[in-house]
Amino acid sequence: MATILNGNTVRDQIKAECLPRVTSFIARTERAPGLAVVLVGDNSASAVYVRNKTKTAEELGLHHETIARPASLTTDELLAIVAHLNARTDIDGILIQLPLPSHIDSQMCLLAVAPEKDVDGFHPCNVGLLSTGRPGLRPCTPSGVIEILKRYQIPIAGRNAVVVGRSDIVGKPMALLLLQENATVTVCHSRTRDLPAVCRNAEILVAAIGRTAMITADYIQPGAVVIDVGMNTVRTREEAERVFDPARLADFDKRGSLLVGDVHPGDMARVSSAYTPVPGGVGPLTIAMLMRNTIEAAERRC
Ligand code: GUN
Repeated sequence: MATILNGNTVRDQIKAECLPRVTSFIARTERAPGLAVVLVGDNSASAVYVRNKTKTAEELGLHHETIARPASLTTDELLAIVAHLNARTDIDGILIQLPLPSHIDSQMCLLAVAPEKDVDGFHPCNVGLLSTGRPGLRPCTPSGVIEILKRYQIPIAGRNAVVVGRSDIVGKPMALLLLQENATVTVCHSRTRDLPAVCRNAEILVAAIGRTAMITADYIQPGAVVIDVGMNTVRTREEAERVFDPARLADFDKRGSLLVGDVHPGDMARVSSAYTPVPGGVGPLTIAMLMRNTIEAAERRC
């Protein structure tokens, strides 16, 4: 039987470790670490993510603010908001929720965030620090994956790790973090030849593609550790039949839609030695790592 890598358990451990750091920061500086989240437009998924972030910040006793603006906001107006947050001494972490409306220059806005407040780890300064193995703020989702592997005592050094997906948010930093842990890393993408064969070489397989249950049994080396970063919604019964076992199919029929990752859940449970389920695997870690980054940014600044 494969081990289920429970992201909720790891999230709770990380949150528990954050609490005394917040307490001692407050005792030392007479203020709480401060997180500002900028939300532009009315993307309902983004609104849910931001609510969850601020709810967790509240639980941990952080100071938090959500700066919500309509989709009509211009790049210059967003740059002015970021400049103001950069200058505020009570704000340690700035997060611009993505995606931004298409008329806004996202790259320019991410570049404007002060690197020492860049709790997403997206600024080229922090990307450079990561790629050269120096301390800096790391992207939340891939650093959450490393936490899961370490806390379940899954060895990384010397192992073949394959990352499927090369996004700036997950794939690329994931590869760099695995490399830093001395894995032998391969990054795959849409132009990779014979993707199943490359993936079957993985002792640690990380799927971050954004395609519903694309990774099936023929991609997974028996006994591999599989990390599923995907978060996709299954909406049609035809797709649900391909993806779910009878119990979850019944659940799908009740709800009309269900979350699934980039890996076929049944195949992953059957072929791997350990895996992160969706939901309840990598997802819960992203917010916990954001909280930890905010505290770390505050500690470094004060
Ligand atoms: N949208 C989806 N994931 C993320 C993330 O990790 N950070 C930000 N800022 N926006 C996101």
